[in-house]
Amino acid sequence: MGIYMALFNNKNSEKQEFDVLPKHIGIIMDGNGRWAKKRALPRSAGHKAGANVFRTISKECERLGIEYVTFYAFSTENWKRPKEEVDALMSLFMDYLLEAKSDMTQAGNSRIKFIGEREGISQELLNLMDEAEEETASHTGTTVYLAINYGGRQEIVSAVNKLISEGKTEITEDDISNGIYTVPDCDLIIRPSGEQRLSNFLLWQAAYSEFWYSDVLWPDFKISDLHKALREFEKRNRRFGG
Ligand code: FPP
Repeated sequence: MGIYMALFNNKNSEKQEFDVLPKHIGIIMDGNGRWAKKRALPRSAGHKAGANVFRTISKECERLGIEYVTFYAFSTENWKRPKEEVDALMSLFMDYLLEAKSDMTQAGNSRIKFIGEREGISQELLNLMDEAEEETASHTGTTVYLAINYGGRQEIVSAVNKLISEGKTEITEDDISNGIYTVPDCDLIIRPSGEQRLSNFLLWQAAYSEFWYSDVLWPDFKISDLHKALREFEKRNRRFGG
């Protein structure tokens, strides 16, 4: 892994430095429901607060010079949730994309991309997703992947099925790497809310990921929590099995 340097000032203007930054961070935005429950609010209020944290953290990734960040926004399993909650999530995605469309500073210099199955997503949202990808394609900052209707197993199975349909009888790791969504290997996976599992997120790309967990619920996740994860990442001795 290359060495990435980032200098920034924190709230107290104290200069901090990261000697090593992950090239690709994956974030599981967990704990929205519990955050809402604690406040006797509907789950959708937790997702709304979580969407604001997504905005803050994706901007901070860009400011730090992180090349790729993937946010797990909606899994292939999340369709099993009550319709009201699914609708609320879909409308949060729409709101963000509409904002990004009318005010490009929302996306900053980030490139927005989507990973996941298109089937099942409304045409209206698909159109906004396509527009966001096209309009930010020339941006040179962080590539922000939004995983919507995404499942790691499904991603690998689709890649294998495609290879079979092309007539392949023997499959290499490179074949699968080239057949899945073009997301690079993930260096660091961040999961707040106290759960310590991968939940079908970036299964292939997480082969050598470092994990960072925290008890903080996603809507309470702060820039300082991201910095804590990055500090910890700096200290990890990555051997990649060697
Ligand atoms: C898991 O927490 C979270 C989700 C299933 C949805 C995550 C989506 C967002 C934060 C909205 C993102 C918005 C944009 C614009 C990208 P949970 O609801 O399962 O929490 P719980 O475990 O506490 O119930």
